[in-house]
Formats: sequence, structure tokens, C-alpha cells
Amino acid sequence: MEIHKDYDLTKLNTFGISVSAKFFIEIHDKTDLENLFDTPEFKNNKKLFLGGGSNILFTKNFDGLVVLNKLKGIKILSESSTDVVIHAMSGEIWHDLVIFAVERGYWGIENLSLIPGTVGAAPMQNIGAYGAELRDVLESVEAYDLESGKENKKKVFSREECLFGYRDSIFKNELKDKYFIFAITLKLSKVEKKNISYKILREYLENLYAQTGNKIVPYSLKDISDAVGAIRKSKLPDPAIIPNAGSFFKNIFVEEEKLNELLKIYPNMPYFEEKNGRKNGSKASVFIASVFKKIPAAWLIEQCGWKGKRIGNVGVHNMQALVLVNYGGATEEEVKNLAESIIADVKNKFGLVLIPEVNLI
Ligand code: EPU
Repeated sequence: MEIHKDYDLTKLNTFGISVSAKFFIEIHDKTDLENLFDTPEFKNNKKLFLGGGSNILFTKNFDGLVVLNKLKGIKILSESSTDVVIHAMSGEIWHDLVIFAVERGYWGIENLSLIPGTVGAAPMQNIGAYGAELRDVLESVEAYDLESGKENKKKVFSREECLFGYRDSIFKNELKDKYFIFAITLKLSKVEKKNISYKILREYLENLYAQTGNKIVPYSLKDISDAVGAIRKSKLPDPAIIPNAGSFFKNIFVEEEKLNELLKIYPNMPYFEEKNGRKNGSKASVFIASVFKKIPAAWLIEQCGWKGKRIGNVGVHNMQALVLVNYGGATEEEVKNLAESIIADVKNKFGLVLIPEVNLI
């Protein structure tokens, strides 16, 4: 186990920002992790656990210890005739877990195909896409308490204890930086359980079958996973080609009154129902279970003329206005300035405040 000094992080964040970490270490198993707790670098510095680096914007060099999580392992804990409980280590690539499930005929995470990042990052922000969210299938999260020393460190959080909200959890709020997510367990269905409620996904599958002249639409688990992958690839830039961190901002939740006010001025504004949305800016402890209307942030950004716009080395993607991209050599300052200009324009035009979805470090 080697602790590096002044380590370059450019290749470890999908935004491709050139920053370094004062200390850096890779952990491959539980022993590495537990040994790490005893080191002075761990005890005396602030820590950042890094998975795929796909939801992060470094705003400066990291003046502490970066721990790259390479903890691997996916196994079946138990199964019945209808369900299966899967245990996955946090350093696994999320999409590898999706493939594991799809190949074996387990339903529940196929709509979350190709989401970049690791398994450990998934509960942090309750990853979601195409009408599904992690909380729909998550059973528990095993996490290490980073403050209480090695003894009695491990805690198991039930789904309820994770206080999941839209792209939100207790790990991003009250317990921010206090726990390291070690593994998760998911309960998936062995019985067909398709979720094609999301309009774009349903239409994509219907078109696909219309083209083959098929009247019946027997979408398989793999069809759905492939469709999600194809839609994502058509709209979202591949970070390996154009560095980005997926959606840069969260969608916006408003109360009915504000929605109606906006609809009077912008009758074509899209909006969606979403249960258990946490009101923008509210703390996890003020968990709001009522129904808010979701306004796509991409639409707001597009209306302000930002879609496809480029300023220097940074820009707004031309297929999905929610994604900021690095055209090469962008500095953290450039990304920050772009994000701030977008926030200001949306605020001026709509009176709504965009909140970053990426973690600003
Ligand atoms: N829209 C626009 N302009 C655009 C793109 C979208 O006006 O450039 C409007 C359209 O009305 C469209 C609506 O926004 O119907 C929704 O668009 P989309 O289905 O692409 O989803 P999104 O709400 O913009 C969210 C997630 C994505 C996820 C998709 C698909 C957030 C912050 N983002 O985006 O997640 O893939 O839904 O379910 O919730 C990510 O988190 O990194 C991510 C990519």
C-alpha cells in the first residue's frame, strides 16, 4: 500500500480538470481500507473517496488525501423463486453490476444502464434515469464511520435510513464526509417487471418494433437495457471523447403555485410529476414527502440560449443542455464561470435557482 504525494488527478475526473492531490492512495480490499485508517496521512488530513470521478468538479488542488476505491466483488446473497438479493462492493463499475443483472435475468436496474461511476457513488445521490431510481431496489448500504476509529466502525443503513430524495441522500447531507460506502445490497426481481413509463424510452422501443413490422412488443430485459444505452449515447457526450460529468445541474422542483405562474408566461414549458422530491435547497432533515412538479433544467437553460454555446474551452452540450463539457484544457475557473453565468441567466428569466448536481470539491 503506497501513499503517493502531489498526485495528478487529471485522468481520475471525467471533466478532465488538471488538479493534484496532496496525498493519494488506491485501495483494493478491506485490509487496505482498514490499514489506511491507521496511517498518519489518513488521521491528519481531510479525505476524498473517489470512484469513477464522473460526478465531480475539482475547483482547486485537493489539500488532503484522495482514496481511489477499487474494492471489487459482486455476489448473490440469497434468492427465492421471485427475488434475488445481490451484494456489490462499492468500487465496482455501476454498469458492470447492470450487466451482471441483465445477463442473469434479474429485473430492476436495466433502466439505469450505462450510468457512469461506481456502485459506491450510486446511493450517495440515489442515481436515477428513465423512470427508475436506485431507491426502488436498494435494500441496504454498508458504510464505515470515518471518525470513530477502526472499532465498531461498520454500520448498515436500511433504505429508509438513507433518506433518499431526488439525486439526494443522507450521505450528501447530514452525514456528508462522515461515512465511506463499502458495499450495497439490492433486491432484484426474477419475475418480469418492466418499467417503460418514461416517454422517451417507451417511444424508442415502440419505434424499434414498428420498424421490424412486429405487432406484439415483447421487450426483453436486454432490449430495455440496450434501448437505454442507445438513448444515452445519442444524447450524452462520451467523457472519453469530450470530458464532462453528466448532468451538471439538478432538475427543479416547484410548488403548484409557482408552476402555474410560469405556465401563464410559458404555456409550452414541460413539467413532470415526481413523488418524494426534496424541495430545492431544503435540508435532508426537512424531508418533504409531498408532490412537487419537476421542471427540466435543460429546458430552462435552452430557453436562455445556452444550448450548444461554447466559451473558450468550455461549453453547453448541443444535444442535452444539462451537460457542460470540456473541449480540452478547460480550467476549473472556466467551468465555474460558465456555470455561474447559466445560473444567473436562468434566475433572471424564470426566478428559479439552478443547483449543481455535480459535487464541487
Ligand atoms: N430538454 C430540453 N432541452 C434539452 C434536453 C432536455 O428542453 O437539451 C427537456 C425536454 O422537455 C425533455 C426533458 O427536458 O423531455 C427531459 O429530458 P431528458 O429525458 O433528457 O432528462 P433530464 O431530466 O434532462 C435526467 C437526468 C439524467 C438522466 C435523464 C434520463 C437529472 C439531473 N438528470 O435528465 O441523468 O439520464 O433524466 O432519465 O436528473 C446524470 O445524472 O448525469 C444524468 C445524465
